[in-house]
Amino acid sequence: RNVQDLAACDAGELTADALERYVRPDIDKDAVLYEHSGELPVVDLGRLNPQHWEEEAAAKLRYACEEWGFFQVLNHGVPEEVMVSIKRDIQEFFELPLDVKNAYAQTPGDLQGYGQAYVFSNDQKLDWKSLEDYSAEVEKVAHSIATAIGKILNIDPELMSDKYAVQVLRMNYYPPCTSMPEKVLGFSPHSDGSFLTILSQVNSVEGLQIKRHDAWVPVKPHPEALLVNVGDFLEIMTNGKFKSIEHRVIINAHKERLSVSAFHSPKFDGVVSPATATPTENLLYRTVKVEGYIKHSMSNKLDGKRALDHAKAF
Ligand code: SIN
Ligand code: FE2
Repeated sequence: RNVQDLAACDAGELTADALERYVRPDIDKDAVLYEHSGELPVVDLGRLNPQHWEEEAAAKLRYACEEWGFFQVLNHGVPEEVMVSIKRDIQEFFELPLDVKNAYAQTPGDLQGYGQAYVFSNDQKLDWKSLEDYSAEVEKVAHSIATAIGKILNIDPELMSDKYAVQVLRMNYYPPCTSMPEKVLGFSPHSDGSFLTILSQVNSVEGLQIKRHDAWVPVKPHPEALLVNVGDFLEIMTNGKFKSIEHRVIINAHKERLSVSAFHSPKFDGVVSPATATPTENLLYRTVKVEGYIKHSMSNKLDGKRALDHAKAF
């Protein structure tokens, strides 16, 4: 059952079921560095266009991928009306009565539907025009970022293009929790089993935190930006130079939070290896099969970077 169905924090009361599933007794002891929020790198994609390439912007992108694993992207090129429509539709969808949403419910073995929704963009059950538009626009953003990364790393564009060929969209809904918001997690710590992930914080409610120097740094939603993060496959491809960073979502006491993640991954029948490692470099990761890796990272209880640790070369 999913969070909204459980109504984990409905009217501020945690049900016994929800208590057991969602309450983490120790999370409020973790250090949260609010003062570092403002340091999250901002990358201007308008300055990383092949026709208009600025070394300073490229250096920023490299720094962001090496040191933070997360960055905000401005001038991403997604038209404003596309952003407005997708945000409105997602909000309207989650406001629908439960029985209507359950008509879209995911059945066991299904990869799409309401619940733990993984919605494949090429085969929509929820065929909203806005979702298709958003999906196509975000694909272009993934292409631009991956192309810029390829240029920075000196990778053949051909080799790069199949790394982000598959897009999976997921809409996330986090209900508020008045009784003990500081003890509940919306999303346990994990790193993404993707190549690149592109996130829109739909209603600009805070909640996402990223791991940095053994503490958590909150990500402030930026209304004009898309948030991008390095996924496990990009960390493997760069032999650990670009970092796939653990992140988690905390719950707000009064406000629901909505976000939409676009995971860009290699074709499932492919492999990813530490291709950019120089001949003298120690290999940190072995070659992984994409499908097996994704299955492994989804089957585990999302707990730290176990999927990535499993791909270590020793
Ligand atoms: C996720 O890690 O996929 C969810 C991120 C978010 O909702 O901000
Ligand atoms: Fe994630």
